[in-house]
Amino acid sequence: MEQIEIGSGDARWSLKGMSALVTGGTRGIGHAIIEEFARFGAVIYTCSRNQKELDECLEEWKRMGFRVAGSVCDLSVRAQRDKLMETVAWLFQWENQYPGE
Ligand SMILES: NC(=O)c1ccc[n+]([C@@H]2O[C@H](COP(=O)([O-])OP(=O)(O)OC[C@H]3O[C@@H](n4cnc5c(N)ncnc54)[C@H](OP(=O)(O)O)[C@@H]3O)[C@@H](O)[C@H]2O)c1
Repeated sequence: MEQIEIGSGDARWSLKGMSALVTGGTRGIGHAIIEEFARFGAVIYTCSRNQKELDECLEEWKRMGFRVAGSVCDLSVRAQRDKLMETVAWLFQWENQYPGE
């Protein structure tokens, strides 16, 4: 039986041209999902409540060549969730129209 390796660099798997919103991306599961999606070529938007940690992560991902943007958002606050969705809808629409810019 063929063993399928799921991980970075496997040309059979690609998320190029795809956009993903991954909430809670500065630690734990969200952080791991972002790096895996980014390795497969996805453009990602993320959030967390801590600006400093978020900025550090965004800087590190930029250094790694990943296309990840993000902003502070407390998902337990409805107004902040609504604002996040507006931002993401706008950005992903832009990404679909002008990929890579
Ligand atoms: N770890 C496991 O083995 C496991 C297993 C099953 C299920 N889960 C569930 O999966 C989720 C993530 O687990 P994890 O271990 O990866 O958690 P974690 O290490 O605590 O990371 C959570 C991430 O979410 C952000 N976050 C937390 N509350 C937030 C809020 N109100 N608004 C926006 N961002 C928020 C955190 O940043 P800030 O604190 O800076 O906002 C951080 O980036 C949790 O719901 C957990 O219960 C985890």
